[in-house]
Amino acid sequence: MILYFTGTGNSRHVANQIAKVTGEQIEDIAIYLRQNDIGHYHSDRPYVFVGPVYAGRYPRVMTDYIRKAEFTGSRQAYFVATCAETPWITAKYAKRLAEKKRF
Ligand SMILES: Cc1cc2nc3c(=O)[nH]c(=O)nc-3n(C[C@H](O)[C@H](O)[C@H](O)COP(=O)(O)O)c2cc1C
Repeated sequence: MILYFTGTGNSRHVANQIAKVTGEQIEDIAIYLRQNDIGHYHSDRPYVFVGPVYAGRYPRVMTDYIRKAEFTGSRQAYFVATCAETPWITAKYAKRLAEKKRF
């Protein structure tokens, strides 16, 4: 399952490309955020999170959502970030988030 968050569309584009190749279900986190839906997901295949780097890391609204949502099934996850050229602490924070979520 692919969950993406995007500001200007780049991460949606990347998520769509991953979905095209893998055939995975794709979800826009913003839709759930607007509905105040905490989110309960089940996938037997790895989760893929795609989002932008803003000021050196994933947007807080995206990571807060992932932190609160429930993910059952697969304990494998990929974190994909789109950025200009300076991802800074994105990987470190993604790793920390993955550990918190027991991925
Ligand atoms: C407010 C803002 C902050 C950004 N900060 C960074 C950054 O710290 N490092 C970087 O490499 N790119 C940065 N970028 C570029 C974005 O990460 C890049 O354009 C990304 O692909 C945008 O994804 P999106 O279209 O899914 O929102 C920033 C862009 C914006 C608008």
